[in-house]
Amino acid sequence: MQFEIIDIDKKGGGVSHEGIIFRFAYPGDTIEGYIVSKRKKLGRIEKVVKESPLRHKAPCKYAGECGGCAWQQMRYDEQLKIKEAKIKGLFGFCEPIIPAPQEFFYRNRMDFAFGPDFLIGLKDDKNKTLDIEKCWLLSEESNEIVNRLRKFVKSRDLKSYPEGIMRHVVIREGKNIKNTVINILTSDKGEFPLEELWEELKDIIQGITWSHNLSPADRSYGEIQKSIGQDYLLESLNGIKFKIPVQSFFQTNTRQAEKLIQIIIEFANLKGDEKVFDLYSGTGSIGLSLADKAKEVAGIEENEAAAKLSLENAKLNDIENFSAIAGRIEDIIKSLDLKSDKIILDPPRPGIHKKVLQKIVEAKPKEIVYVSCNPYTQREDINLLSEGGYHIEKTQPIDMFPHTPHIENVVLLRNSAP
Ligand SMILES: C[S@@+](CC[C@H](N)C(=O)[O-])C[C@H]1O[C@@H](n2cnc3c(N)ncnc32)[C@H](O)[C@@H]1O
Repeated sequence: MQFEIIDIDKKGGGVSHEGIIFRFAYPGDTIEGYIVSKRKKLGRIEKVVKESPLRHKAPCKYAGECGGCAWQQMRYDEQLKIKEAKIKGLFGFCEPIIPAPQEFFYRNRMDFAFGPDFLIGLKDDKNKTLDIEKCWLLSEESNEIVNRLRKFVKSRDLKSYPEGIMRHVVIREGKNIKNTVINILTSDKGEFPLEELWEELKDIIQGITWSHNLSPADRSYGEIQKSIGQDYLLESLNGIKFKIPVQSFFQTNTRQAEKLIQIIIEFANLKGDEKVFDLYSGTGSIGLSLADKAKEVAGIEENEAAAKLSLENAKLNDIENFSAIAGRIEDIIKSLDLKSDKIILDPPRPGIHKKVLQKIVEAKPKEIVYVSCNPYTQREDINLLSEGGYHIEKTQPIDMFPHTPHIENVVLLRNSAP
């Protein structure tokens, strides 16, 4: 069946006249495909019959099947236009989107799955692992790690889960500080020869960790079993150094994260006498960057290792006015005196717990800087904050993730109540 693609949905798939969503299809395309689920309105593309003017030839040979870069066959200027239009549609207005300084090789982290026949890579449209020899979002060195690892698991006959133990590998590579660490995730049904792999890779990495993922979920997170060398990544943003535990969040596009921090600093517009709350503070990338502009910064973060390292990062950079509490914000918010001057919010994709939003509205900080990698949940949260007297002062989209539909957006909110 033929379908004409007329729009892009929330997750970046092309939407046909009939409302069916096709991954790897762009507005202006005529495609041949079929419907996979009528209920979910999901289709699968078979071939492009007439190419959209948004298309160009992508450099990566897996473009069009690899889930990592669903938009790589779309010109970068067109990707930016779509992202900006999405933010305008959600918020009514915005500053022009800030393009990424690098279109390729920008990621400092990649999570690859192990597949049958010793494949290592990302998943395709049918959830099958692609054997990726060269990923265009990773550096040459990180691609070399994957290729050596592939040879290693093959030579030791280490099969992929569920037949064998191999589940994921996470590669983390500093862009401003040269160092790389990896985390190998397996099931608990066998020993992983960590020392032997270390011997194979120690000339190109600084640390290796082995973790058990005991969950049936296809996730690259688990219980750490053992590390050799560094069990953290070292990176810097605008001159501030960060130690990041192997399993903790950090912005994946280092160069653009520096710009993002600069926008947050500009929006926060600190005078030096304020107490700032940095909610969802991670390893402190935002809070520590604001510390020399405020009287005090308090971070709150659920991941204990990250919260602990944010304090270590403060020491590493001689910052004395930063503190951090480990815990889920919704669980500890009651005990917090949120009557601060400014609040920074940088929640994960599902957004902010209603309890937290309510408490913020009651505490009425004058200004809130809300950073999000999911503008749809950000919009919903801001609707609640608006009912509590906040209005949107400024909206700044910034492209952290070229060739993917993901959009990062920073919103400055001010409380209009006296
Ligand atoms: C988008 S990241 C931001 C981290 C940090 N601001 C940064 O830029 O590196 C979201 C962070 O929120 C943390 N988190 C998720 N749910 C949380 C919760 N309910 N309470 C506190 N922290 C949470 C995650 O561990 C993660 O570090």
